[in-house]
Amino acid sequence: MTLGNRALRTTDISAVLDRYRASIEAGMREALASASALTTQSAATEDLRASLYGQIDYHLGWRDASFKLSESAQGHGGKLLRPTLTLLAAELAGGDAAAERALPAAVSVELIHNFSLIHDDIEDGDEMRHHRPTLWRNWGQAQAINTGDALFALARMRLLGLTERGVDAGLTLRLVRRVDATCLELCEGQHLDMSFEGRRDVTVAMYLDMIARKTAALMRCATELGGRIGAPRHEKLGERLGAFGRALGLAFQIRDDLLGIWKAQELGKSAAGDVRRKKMSLPVIHALENASASDRNALTHIYFRPGPANEDQIAEALEIFERCGARPRALDALREQLHAARAALDDALNLAQRNAAREHLEPAAAAQALGEFLAYISADAES
Ligand code: IPE
Ligand code: IPE
Ligand code: MG
Ligand code: MG
Repeated sequence: MTLGNRALRTTDISAVLDRYRASIEAGMREALASASALTTQSAATEDLRASLYGQIDYHLGWRDASFKLSESAQGHGGKLLRPTLTLLAAELAGGDAAAERALPAAVSVELIHNFSLIHDDIEDGDEMRHHRPTLWRNWGQAQAINTGDALFALARMRLLGLTERGVDAGLTLRLVRRVDATCLELCEGQHLDMSFEGRRDVTVAMYLDMIARKTAALMRCATELGGRIGAPRHEKLGERLGAFGRALGLAFQIRDDLLGIWKAQELGKSAAGDVRRKKMSLPVIHALENASASDRNALTHIYFRPGPANEDQIAEALEIFERCGARPRALDALREQLHAARAALDDALNLAQRNAAREHLEPAAAAQALGEFLAYISADAES
């Protein structure tokens, strides 16, 4: 499963994501296929398979809104960043066999990510994701909450499947605790994010703490899980891989904030959706701190009134961001996190290399693949 050098010469992340795509998708399908067999069988089982599980399949890009199998999930499904991070971290720490052992953890992380997205779209009132109506737009908020909850339960069950792949029961229990703490942190982050809307006193430090919880915690969990499964006794390696995931997650959310203002439509979301909804994202916080007095007044006028921003207000806010350098400031913050992620990844590689010869491992290829995520985040945000 080691990445060949040829695949790594490109800075295009798709080669890295393709590396484990087939096994992650197979693991996801297996998790979903086994789901209805885990519960009571009755006349309703078939209906549930079509409707509840159909909604999950829709969200994952596997079926359309009438529950017909999609021709291709490409373009409608997620990128599978987090489970790829788990498997690459496992590969770095323990080689190909570790990546195979870690599959249930990778699938679990991706299911958790998707439960959070289904709920996030309700919380944010977002009507589009991946160029299609969000789950709640199709089937209502109540059903979407329930479908998200079902994915959450499935994610936890899948994680326990680690023991069937030979992962020690004690370690599995430790990882279950890690995932539960991560979900709690994610909910804390989502709470803070929503509570920031309409607040005038949100600082950059408060923002960074919020995104550390809502986004970076799961990315940290993704890489830490891989590291711990790959090298169960190597505490420091798991910690450094977790630190890499956390910094990557912070950079990723800052990038998402940039895209949410300047590229939302291209990504299949509502145009400038984060401005319309007046999200307190990093460019806005920078603008409120650094714009001229008159621009700050104008922005305050737009952001701290009830209801969504209209087209004129969105255009005005974008001009203010431009004048006060909100975008380059956010990019500086993003680069800082990428720098921290690079340092943690270098530490992890050095630690892994100390045991590598004895255990016949080659961690460099996986480290290089993980490094491609940094190039991807920076290229995408700066373009
Ligand atoms: C979106 O994450 C949510 C954020 C944390 C910003 P992704 O961009 O990784 O979403 P998918 O998995 O590709 O849908
Ligand atoms: C991402 O939140 C974090 C979670 C889903 C927990 P956002 O609201 O910033 O992400 P997008 O832009 O909707 O994907
Ligand atoms: Mg959202
Ligand atoms: Mg949100």
